[in-house]
Amino acid sequence: MPATIVVGTQWGDEGKGKFTDLLAKEMSMVVRYQGGHNAGHTLVVDGETFKLQLVPSGVLYDHITPVIGNGVVVDPFVLLKEMAMLRDRGIDVSGLLLSGNAHLILPYHQELDALHERHLGKNKLGTTKRGIGPAYADKSMRLGIRVQDLLDEDIFREKLHGALSHTNKVLTKVFNRLPVDPDELADRVLGECLEGIKPHIADTVNAIHDALDAGQHVLFEGAQATFLDLDHGTYPFVTSSNPTAGGACPGAGIGPRDVGRILGIAKAYITRVGAGPFPTELFDDYGDKMVDIGREFGTNTGRRRRPGWFDAVMMRHAVKINSLSDLAITKLDVMDTFDTVKICVAYEIDGKRVEKLPYHQSDVHRAKPIYEEMPGWKTDLSKATEPGHLPENATAYLRLLEDQVGVPVTLVSTGPGRDQYIHWA
Ligand code: IMP
Repeated sequence: MPATIVVGTQWGDEGKGKFTDLLAKEMSMVVRYQGGHNAGHTLVVDGETFKLQLVPSGVLYDHITPVIGNGVVVDPFVLLKEMAMLRDRGIDVSGLLLSGNAHLILPYHQELDALHERHLGKNKLGTTKRGIGPAYADKSMRLGIRVQDLLDEDIFREKLHGALSHTNKVLTKVFNRLPVDPDELADRVLGECLEGIKPHIADTVNAIHDALDAGQHVLFEGAQATFLDLDHGTYPFVTSSNPTAGGACPGAGIGPRDVGRILGIAKAYITRVGAGPFPTELFDDYGDKMVDIGREFGTNTGRRRRPGWFDAVMMRHAVKINSLSDLAITKLDVMDTFDTVKICVAYEIDGKRVEKLPYHQSDVHRAKPIYEEMPGWKTDLSKATEPGHLPENATAYLRLLEDQVGVPVTLVSTGPGRDQYIHWA
């Protein structure tokens, strides 16, 4: 059976976790393919809130094999803490598979992330300081240490010596910090993490293909989102991996022909954390309401997210670069009390109407949104579970969005709970 990819289409925090969790009912396996614990997935199940960073959302189902693919960067301390938290809350994590080819995030990656940000001063990227960028940089420089290296103490120590002979020069000579002792770190990682992690280390590529060959349904869940993609996002204000749907191929070891459906997740408005251009950003009461009602504070870092109206120009671009089949719209209910709602349908740049996302970032910085505005629905949507439950103005909003974006909206979320959604088409 062809696989499904779930991908964020904006700047993250679209509520991917909820739909991954919803689709998980039909799945046998849920695979994370990139990112690390910079992600934060909030899931509300039977009134209980779960916040996941590394373990795929499907873990909350007994019939799912959760898989951390080779494209993920894994902090072993964080992974063990998250597994312990889930165990304490009665969730069975024994079936978790962790790719032996995934790269490790070690404490020096986090130190470097914080140092780079400090060094950039007012030009800082606003990273989550989880060591994501430095870990992927080490991977590209062939200095990375993989999960499988934990299985052979000599190799682990040798690789740590190799990596730190480079990194310690950067720490001491560039940033004037103390060097890291490779053997002390090796003792700590092996002593505190190996036993807990070893049973989960696996050949995830073959596990995924065995599941696909057996006709099982496999879901690939992207972390972060399209416009945080290293290649297609608003560089340099991006993460260091490829959250776009194509990233599932190298990040999990599948080919494009293995995929049948690519579901994009989009908020009914937009938020972003960290720096970078944002054409529809709001600095008014509507923005404050989005943040307050939508509880738009980072799951991980607690930072206030920057709010803005839905941007169809960006979404049309996201449709192209992800080959989206359909869209799920989340948090429609956040705008329940709004007198008016807006969708950005084009930009004005130097007096010209522009319908496609400009490749030149200076143009994105200068873009003025051209909006279509409509009256709000002023109705509580929290109990709407069928298309017929939606007031006319909410339906009109979704129809305009769909027309602008060019792919069908198939799911609409009307509240944080697992059951608060509508099969729209
Ligand atoms: P990094 O991924 O920690 O290197 O951060 C790079 C950029 O991606 C920053 O602007 C972060 O705020 C943003 N970012 C990383 N992970 C997430 C996420 O899960 N949601 C939203 N933004 C994120």
